[in-house]
Amino acid sequence: MKRRVTKAIFPVAGLGTRFLPATKSVPKEIMTLVDRPLIQYAIDEARAAGIKEFIFVTARGKSALEDYFDSAPQLEAELRKKGKTDLLKLLKATNMDSGAIAYIRQQKAMGLGHAVWCARRLIGNEPFAVILPDDVIDAETPCLKQMVEAYQETGGNMVAAMEVPADKTSAYGVLDVDRDMGRLMSLKGMVEKPAPDSAPSNLAVIGRYILTPSVMQNINRRKQGAGGEIQLTDAIAQEIAHNGGVYGYRFEGQRYDCGSKAGFLQATVAFGLARADLRDEFGAFLQDLIPHAKAAQ
Ligand code: UTP
Repeated sequence: MKRRVTKAIFPVAGLGTRFLPATKSVPKEIMTLVDRPLIQYAIDEARAAGIKEFIFVTARGKSALEDYFDSAPQLEAELRKKGKTDLLKLLKATNMDSGAIAYIRQQKAMGLGHAVWCARRLIGNEPFAVILPDDVIDAETPCLKQMVEAYQETGGNMVAAMEVPADKTSAYGVLDVDRDMGRLMSLKGMVEKPAPDSAPSNLAVIGRYILTPSVMQNINRRKQGAGGEIQLTDAIAQEIAHNGGVYGYRFEGQRYDCGSKAGFLQATVAFGLARADLRDEFGAFLQDLIPHAKAAQ
């Protein structure tokens, strides 16, 4: 029986430069898909996978995130007075249990690896998940749950994997596959942002990980990798080289890169169309819009 994964790190200390000027005052993770902030999707996915402790690695200017998970007594009282029980229920579902959530500061955006490392004392000697909230995954079984179930069989470390066009490898961490077992692959290497001609595959890592304390120890905060940042990929690659036991997992579901403008817009359309209360009006609008968009090309 493998150890259960009950802790998750949410690194949210990045600068979000691709969404400037919005991210000058609004954390990227608070931006909404329809009516829920990105972070809510990430939290719901973590809860579905059995996560009980939620560790946010935040930075200056991200206090809106902390407020989001607080109870809002005044607003709740107002809704109660007006008999808006549905909204009250919706609001309460965003509250977190006392003590379930922790915030750690990353003082300088030195990279994803460094952000994860900032949470090392809260992780201690346990396996942990990492969720990047700007990767939103629409799936019947939530992505992290799929991975936790596979992890019960494998143990070790696991990264979510997805095929990307061969000319896009330089935007991702890329897998070097040892044995391909279908959904599951054992890995012999991982490279951060390789140029297409030197990429070991077109299988990219996306923002879901299950990691061992040993990977945490590998993160050397002084060692910079691709782009001058301290990369999580490098720490995982080191684990493959020294101990093995690292797997890629081809998840089932549609991933949206909400850290990019195009991905965020795609997710907005998809989630809007999936909503029963919006489908008709929004769908009709899009159908009207498409001929105009084509004509403008
Ligand atoms: P990104 O590469 O998307 O960077 O980080 P970013 O700063 O958020 O956005 P851009 O590229 O400037 O637009 C991937 C994840 O890692 C976190 C981010 O918050 C995001 O969830 N991160 C990145 C940190 O927490 N700290 C860092 O130093 C870097």
